Amino acid sequence: MIQCKTSKEIGGMGHSIKRKEDVRFIQGKGQYIDDIKLPGMIYMDIVRSPYAYAKILSINSEKALALPGVLAVVTGKDLEQHNLHWMPTLMSDTQMVLPIDTVMYQSQEVAAVIATERYIAADAVELVEVEYEPMQPVMDPFKAMEPDAPVLRVDKEGKTDNHIWHWEAGDKEATDQVFNEAEVTVKEQMHIPRIHVVSIETCGCIADYDKINNYLTMHMTTQAPHAIRTIIALVAGHLGLTEEKIRVISHDIGGGFGGKVPIYPGYVIAIAVSFLVGKPVKWIEDRTENLQADSFARDYHITAEMAGTKEGKILATRFKLLCDQGYTDAAANPSKYPAGMFSICTGSYDYQNSYVEADAVYTNKPPGGVAYRCSFRVTEAVHAVERMTDCFAQKIGKDPAQLRMDNFIHKDQFPYKSALGWEFDSGDYHQGLQKVMEVVDYHALRKEQEEKRAKGELMGIGICTFTEIVGAGPSKDFDILGIKMFDSAEIRVHPTGKAIARFGTKSQGQGHETTYAQIVAEELGIPAEHVQVEEGDTDTAPYGLGTYASRSTPTAGAAAAIASRKLRAKAKKIAAYLLEVSEEDLEWEPGKFFVKGAPEKAKTIQELVFAAYTNYPPGMEAGFEATHYYDPPNLTFPSGAYICVVDIDKETGQVKVRRFVAIDDCGNIINPMIVQGQVHGGLTQGLAPALYEELIYDEEGNILNGTLMDYLVPTAVESPNWETGHTITPSPHHPLGAKGVGESPTVGATPAIANAVVDALSHLGVTHIEIPITPPKLWKILKEKGAV
Ligand code: CDP
Repeated sequence: MIQCKTSKEIGGMGHSIKRKEDVRFIQGKGQYIDDIKLPGMIYMDIVRSPYAYAKILSINSEKALALPGVLAVVTGKDLEQHNLHWMPTLMSDTQMVLPIDTVMYQSQEVAAVIATERYIAADAVELVEVEYEPMQPVMDPFKAMEPDAPVLRVDKEGKTDNHIWHWEAGDKEATDQVFNEAEVTVKEQMHIPRIHVVSIETCGCIADYDKINNYLTMHMTTQAPHAIRTIIALVAGHLGLTEEKIRVISHDIGGGFGGKVPIYPGYVIAIAVSFLVGKPVKWIEDRTENLQADSFARDYHITAEMAGTKEGKILATRFKLLCDQGYTDAAANPSKYPAGMFSICTGSYDYQNSYVEADAVYTNKPPGGVAYRCSFRVTEAVHAVERMTDCFAQKIGKDPAQLRMDNFIHKDQFPYKSALGWEFDSGDYHQGLQKVMEVVDYHALRKEQEEKRAKGELMGIGICTFTEIVGAGPSKDFDILGIKMFDSAEIRVHPTGKAIARFGTKSQGQGHETTYAQIVAEELGIPAEHVQVEEGDTDTAPYGLGTYASRSTPTAGAAAAIASRKLRAKAKKIAAYLLEVSEEDLEWEPGKFFVKGAPEKAKTIQELVFAAYTNYPPGMEAGFEATHYYDPPNLTFPSGAYICVVDIDKETGQVKVRRFVAIDDCGNIINPMIVQGQVHGGLTQGLAPALYEELIYDEEGNILNGTLMDYLVPTAVESPNWETGHTITPSPHHPLGAKGVGESPTVGATPAIANAVVDALSHLGVTHIEIPITPPKLWKILKEKGAV
């Protein structure tokens, strides 16, 4: 039995766990939304569009309503009467809750059926008759950008095209000049395909409106309960549902990975129905709905370029992005960064010129762009720069490890200002790469590759040395809908020295209950098992922006340390009073203050806490509580050096990952077991888009692999034996020297695997292969190159 809380701790999104009962809970309540049954609860299911783009001519609910147990069929027109048919997105765009006359993507919500039982609601969905007039959807983002493309968002007054936003970073002129004059340039067109977070648990909620007290309790699987409460108040405030009348409770979550940050229409419909009928309304997506209608990530088309010298000095990078957002921009990026942290795309290398240009576009796909286990588009950025680094090495005939070693930012250069303006806090990239090369015996592998090539066998070695950017974020730059991206901790220590600590973040299985308790215990000197950690209830937890983008340790983890230190300062004052010495005469060792030079004159933390309620200094406020809202001075910049070794079966195009070694640097580690679990799960989620996952749509907008029979999620069977290790470069500005870690492995694994496969074929003249590298795709390339 593995000790952990939910799947992410030991294997990511349930890739390696079949049932949650397999996991022993060491903390937390063990209560999932689907386990909750409230008195009088009714159920909701959703009628979805078979077309990607169509006019709704009529909705006939008669047959559905005739089914015993069916209570109502709700349409957009019903919601329109209460002005609830549209809602804002976290990117200040607008999204339909239910459509009035047009559907914009296949599987879009068209109507909701309410019934006394879940199965009756599901049966009734089949009986709702909707008449459509299909229209030709726009699925290709490049075509959507053409001047004569049909305008999709006709609901937006004055909109004459499908363009959403334009964003730039860096000095275009200076970068262009370096490219014009460079000895060597490389360029590739790449697509980071649309994929799905596929968390073990789908989205769902129970909206429970109490008519008598005008009070809404929203049980949800959300990663950001406070932000959701604020948004519900913004959407429904005009109906009297103001923020103090709303309680969002996020129970245990079976994986989120960014997919449970946005608000989905199902939540709002459930609230509206509960508000109208005064009963708790439960809505849980089924697996297929989840896969087809929400929680989508990536879908960036990137033109990536790198310039340098013949000897191998990187001089500049240039990236042009076309970002397919689907029919609305419902991502959750910080306001100033619509393409997220893509500007980390300069990589771990020391050069001064880079330029990024991004345009976002509407298409007839579901809203996409959630930050799937990445700090807002870092995955895309790292894939682009790490692929280009290999392309550059290949073009000048230099070993890709040596090229990296020659171009890394040196450890003495930190804090380092990147060409796109970030201040990297700390790192030792040479040490990481050196370590991973030693573990795999890199030079022996290159020799083996040469011998295999001579025999006509295909073996590849892929390197990825990445820098992440996590911990959003400093208030001067980071907000969502204007709310600054601080996070919080509130610690109350009871008279007997036992504590409850509450946070604005929300674990989805990352083990916050363990690590936050450790932080408080370490700082205050009380045992971790005496610290009860709570998150996710807006009525009790301090306001925070939630958990995603590996921000919890950099923000709320820091808040926990500082709140604990405030308490320790108070304990010191009480100790000085009780021991009748001045504060300067006291020394701290975890668990007690003692008088310098007289260790027997001591007061334990438990005694001091008790005194805070019973015998505190005159003039001091009673009690032992502290709150801290932590506004980080900078982001943290974890890094990693990964090497992947692949063998390719020429006859089938099958890639076998023979070995994968990941050396991560997340600064000081709070809990090694949890970090290792994070890395294992993240690597599997990085393997997924490299070799398996991609959501495919045809020209009519039909999703071609919308079930888990067709959408290939790797399991433990497909996963190699992940070998992990670490280097430690503490963050100089984080109170614990820690950096986030949750997303590094997802970010680093995909390019390492892609680089390995291209490396295996590089002698055939192959410079780039689009992910996912499936057997048919690879076999076709091998055939074209005459290798089979
Ligand atoms: O925001 P999220 O919890 O997904 O990401 P994180 O801050 O990277 O933390 C993931 C888990 O790893 C948490 O339980 C952290 O406390 C733990 N962690 C750690 O033990 N040491 C670190 N240096 C970073 C994270």
